Amino acid sequence: MNKDFYAQHVWHTVRVPLLANAYDILIGQGILEGLGRDLRESFPVSRYIIITDSNVDRYLGTGLLDLLRQDQMQVDLLSFPAGEESKNMATVIDLARKMVELGADRQTGILALGGGVVGDIAAFLASIYMRGIPLIQIPTTLLAQVDSSVGGKTGVDLPEGKNLIGTFYQPKRVYADIEALTTLPQAEVRNGLAEVVKYGVIKSPELFELLEQHGQEVLGLEPKVTAQTVFRSCSIKSDVVAADEREGNLRRVLNFGHTVGHAVEAAALYQIPHGEAVAIGMVVASRISVSKGLMPTGDLERLIGLLRSLGLPTQVPQDLCTEKLMVLLHHDKKVRAGRIHFVLCKRIGQTLITDEVSREELTSAIDSTRKSQK
Ligand SMILES: NC(=O)c1ccc[n+]([C@@H]2O[C@H](COP(=O)([O-])OP(=O)(O)OC[C@H]3O[C@@H](n4cnc5c(N)ncnc54)[C@H](O)[C@@H]3O)[C@@H](O)[C@H]2O)c1
Ligand SMILES: [Zn+2]
Repeated sequence: MNKDFYAQHVWHTVRVPLLANAYDILIGQGILEGLGRDLRESFPVSRYIIITDSNVDRYLGTGLLDLLRQDQMQVDLLSFPAGEESKNMATVIDLARKMVELGADRQTGILALGGGVVGDIAAFLASIYMRGIPLIQIPTTLLAQVDSSVGGKTGVDLPEGKNLIGTFYQPKRVYADIEALTTLPQAEVRNGLAEVVKYGVIKSPELFELLEQHGQEVLGLEPKVTAQTVFRSCSIKSDVVAADEREGNLRRVLNFGHTVGHAVEAAALYQIPHGEAVAIGMVVASRISVSKGLMPTGDLERLIGLLRSLGLPTQVPQDLCTEKLMVLLHHDKKVRAGRIHFVLCKRIGQTLITDEVSREELTSAIDSTRKSQK
């Protein structure tokens, strides 16, 4: 990338220091305008295929295709219907066959342009097409910029459950352009913010405070503070995954709020968005932490206050009964040997993992998260 362009548009860089496959996340505004040149200068790839979904295609896909073609690059675009329902093997096979038809070979790179669904599908395909071809992530939802494009998890769903088939496969680079978020519905911004609150609670009081002070600006996608938020979130996720490249003990901290969150999503038949379910799950996990005398009540109140100010729920919906949640909790794939491993919070920025949460502690935390007015 040309130095002046870089200085003007790339505001932050996060190096993900993996042993064999280190890569950079470039964060800023208007980065995609310089994409063609940067790709040409950085990677020995002869042609690219943009993989995207029907929504992102409309907002960004054709524009990026034209831009890259004007830049004399050989690029094609493949799109599939937007939505989690597309995250399956049928879509992967359909895309793979279209790539063969286009003559894509081992020198072809995939540009994953979209949210987490596109990222997971396109990265999975890149990891298996001709035994692996170069992958570039261009996340276009806040969730994808702060979470799913970092860490190398790829995959698709089965009728039996989410993300049951997949690989670990690292991108060559991630381009997180704040400008790409401008068409994102507000509900999707909130969805991503739940994960940012999570990063604050598990690792960074500073990030938590940034959201307390500037959350409304991030909701409004003010460029500088949004870029700062993406930067800090990616730095945290990058640190965690670099310390634990494969799913191991260190990475488990990222599961804060997700144990109960997944049960809430499943109990609501996925009619509650992931971020909202995680928000509720974080409140339940924090209530357990308070009841065990680990976390000060004031920190729980701060968490609830922040989630509310961001328009995220803090109560278990009335119609999701505790018994049903308990059954689902014991079906979670992260439950090891029948015991639920909980990420609890000691204070904002500090966690503790334990399998010593009794049935009573859990049901009581769920019940009071439903009834409480806080
Ligand atoms: N690989 C990982 O580590 C990881 C981590 C977290 C989540 N995930 C996965 O990510 C997925 C969720 O990701 P998501 O929340 O980004 O969902 P998504 O990809 O479905 O995007 C949400 C919606 O926003 C639309 N959209 C995307 N970019 C847009 C833009 N710029 N403007 C307007 N609309 C836009 C999409 O078409 C879709 O309708 C799940 O499948 C989840 O399993 C993966
Ligand atoms: Zn999540």
